[in-house]
Parts: sequence; C-alpha cells; structure tokens
Amino acid sequence: MMNRFPSGIFGLDRLIEGGFRDKTANVIVGSSGTGKTTFAIQFIMHGIENGEQGLYISLEEKPKQIMEEAALMGFDMEKHYEESLFFIHLKGENFKKMIEEQLPALVKARSDYLIKTRIVVDPLTPVIWATDDKLQQRELIGKLFYTVKNLGVVVATVEEHTKPGETIGEDVLTPVYLSDGVLHLDYYPVGGAFNRTLQILKMRGTKHGEGVYPFIFVRGAGIVVRSTPLETKEEEKKDYSKVFDEAIETAKMLKAQPNVIMKIENIKKWWNYPYSPEEIIEIIFDSYGLKVR
Ligand SMILES: Nc1ncnc2c1ncn2[C@@H]1O[C@H](COP(=O)(O)OP(=O)(O)OP(=O)(O)O)[C@@H](O)[C@H]1O
Ligand SMILES: [Mg+2]
Repeated sequence: MMNRFPSGIFGLDRLIEGGFRDKTANVIVGSSGTGKTTFAIQFIMHGIENGEQGLYISLEEKPKQIMEEAALMGFDMEKHYEESLFFIHLKGENFKKMIEEQLPALVKARSDYLIKTRIVVDPLTPVIWATDDKLQQRELIGKLFYTVKNLGVVVATVEEHTKPGETIGEDVLTPVYLSDGVLHLDYYPVGGAFNRTLQILKMRGTKHGEGVYPFIFVRGAGIVVRSTPLETKEEEKKDYSKVFDEAIETAKMLKAQPNVIMKIENIKKWWNYPYSPEEIIEIIFDSYGLKVR
C-alpha cells in the first residue's frame, strides 16, 4: 500500500484509504463556524504527537491567539511551540512576496531535512481575496500549493459563501480545482447531536467514501466522524431484528393500532442500515403517542 499519512481526524481515515497521500494539498471548505480550524489543528497536532513537525501558516490570527483557541478545544500547542511547531504569521497583503520569495526560500532550507512536516494554511481565504484577477489568483494559489507540497501533506482551509442550491461556492472554485483533495464541512443549526456533517468531494488517487458523514466535536479529541463501516456483520443484523421484535412486543402491550405495528414490521423488513434502529423506533413511538414508561 502507498504511504499514507493519517489525518488525525477520528473516523476519517477509513474513508480515504488510511490517510492523505504525501505531498498533496487538501482543502477544507465550509462556511464560518463549521470546524475548519479545528480540523486543521487536529491534523497538525496528530503529526506532532507522532514525531513529525508542523508549519502553521496563518494569514489572520497571531500564533498566540491560535494557541489560546486551541487550548480551549483541548489541544496543547504551546508545549511544542518553536520545537516542532512553527508559525508563519503574515499580516498585511504581501502574499505575493511571501508566496514567491519567502516560502520557496524556507522550503529550500528544509529540503534536506528528513523529518516529515505537516503544513496548515488557515485560512487561505485572504489569498483568494488578494486579487480580483482570476488568473493571478490561480497563479498565487497554484504556486503556494506547489511550494509547500514539497514539505509534506498540506491542509488549507477556505471559507465559503454558498448561495441556495449551490453545492460549492463559486468563490472557492480556484483552490478546489488546484487541490488534490477537497473536504466539505457543513453545519445545520437544527439542534440534535448530529447536525454537523463532513463530505469528501474529491481525493485524487484515492477510492473515498461518498456519503454525508455526521460528526461531533469532542473536547480534547476534536472532530469525530461517524463513518460506520459500509458492511454490517450478520450477527449485528440479527441483533437489530431483536430490537424490532422487542419494539413490536412493547407496541402491542401499549395497545398500539395495528397499522403502527405493521409499520414497524415493515421497517424491520427493510432495515439494512449499519446502525441500531432504537432511536428511530423511539421517534415513531413518540409520534403515535406510545409512552414506554
Ligand atoms: N469542543 C467543542 N465542543 C463544542 N463545540 C465546539 C468545540 N470545538 C469547536 N466547537 C464549535 O465549532 C465552532 C467553530 O469551530 P472552528 O473555529 O473550527 O470553525 P471554523 O470553520 O474555523 O470557523 P471560522 O470560519 O470562523 O474560522 C465554534 O463556534 C464552536 O461552537
Ligand atoms: Mg477558522
């Protein structure tokens, strides 16, 4: 198997054949507050905890701010600051100079360095906004990716502003096109445990999961993707039928209408999802006013 670098995002690696490929640029797209920075920090910290180095290119916040926010999420970045975790903080708008001069020099200086480096650009958005000229935008981002990819795996975050009905915002098409992998984060502010999702839009050279995967934030761990394996074992399926049988028993005990019981039997017949139907049954019971206790 090809050399893969585990993302550090729990549940993601099994959807991308074990991790990111070396020397690839991966873009995390999502609107504000969807978890892009969390993803980036989790990715870079995973490498550092495994003896790799990290280069965090920030175009907005100062290193101190980033590390403070990381600490609130349960990541101790300070411990590795300037030992294995390095920052490039770019203020102002001299991206062109950074991308064309500073970065190549830095990469060259590290080129005979054997320790693997993970690179984060968070957020890449200011580079996109630096120019209205699409061609120049492409040149800048293309050059940036090309340069830092030499060091290892790159994760760049891009803020998007989608219009209704758009899968991906027009403003992020350039980095999406120029990258090797694209992950899309979404947030549906509708309450409930699984109101955040992750989708893999592309991953060059990788057979990747094609679902919409719910994820949660766990303080101290970061993002945990609920990427249940595609195939369920037979025993597990039998367990589920037991869950249905118990539900039907209970429904009968509660004097449920025959059509309600038929409905549950019908769901049982079609249930081939790799997770327990308990929550669904609860919702259905509740909808028909069936109180278990
Ligand atoms: N441990 C946690 N528990 C609950 N929620 C969390 C946790 N960590 C992060 N969040 C939520 O995720 C949100 C934003 O996370 P993050 O900063 O990673 O998003 P972002 O996409 O980078 O946002 P922006 O576009 O503003 O940079 C926070 O507003 C917070 O509500
Ligand atoms: Mg952010």
